[in-house]
Amino acid sequence: MDNIRKNIYPIQDRLLQRSAKETKLNQRAIAMWFTGLSGSGKSTIAQSLEALLFEKGYTTMVLDGDNIRSGLNNNLTFTAEDRTENIRRIAEVSKLFVQSGIITINTFVSPTREIRSYAQDIIGQEDFFEIFVNASIETCEERDVKGLYKKARAGEIKNFTGIDAPYEAPENPAIEIRTDLLSIEEGVEKVYQFILPLIQKQA
Ligand code: ADX
Repeated sequence: MDNIRKNIYPIQDRLLQRSAKETKLNQRAIAMWFTGLSGSGKSTIAQSLEALLFEKGYTTMVLDGDNIRSGLNNNLTFTAEDRTENIRRIAEVSKLFVQSGIITINTFVSPTREIRSYAQDIIGQEDFFEIFVNASIETCEERDVKGLYKKARAGEIKNFTGIDAPYEAPENPAIEIRTDLLSIEEGVEKVYQFILPLIQKQA
């Protein structure tokens, strides 16, 4: 690896500053990191939140598990090793957007504390906000929006998070959204009220 990196000369210091881009966009960039079981509501909340932010004049990017796994990460499986690589690439992409002044909304199962801490290390602690989209495995399985729990129970999908692969809930998330108790609108509003002071550009 060292050999591969030997002839690389990053030009980061010669690029236009993030702060200049944030000023132009009139916002401060952050990365929201939504974690939760498949079917917990991460994508749904992210979509509505993005629509709300757009309406309020903010520039955002949603990076979502199923989308990214159809493109950039379509060569990765759901082994622990591939999930780590999945998250590494996403975190690097998210960081690029944040450096461009864009608010990113990342929605990935990201099932372990270690994997999320890895994402936080890449993005940077000051820009990373963990949002726990919490619905019990029973609720997610009952919803079974994509029919994947049924397949996992039937043994057609292996290493399915919450069934035969672990999910570790965050210990200290910035916010928790109980999608079994709140409506989508209430969940979105909770995230919005939390991030508003963080994304507003100080005069
Ligand atoms: S992560 O664990 O690597 O963070 P990611 O968020 O990218 O997962 O992808 C999760 C999505 O892939 C789920 O919402 C589901 O639609 C689909 N999926 C397919 N197989 C699995 C599996 N074995 N475990 C979890 N999700 C799976």
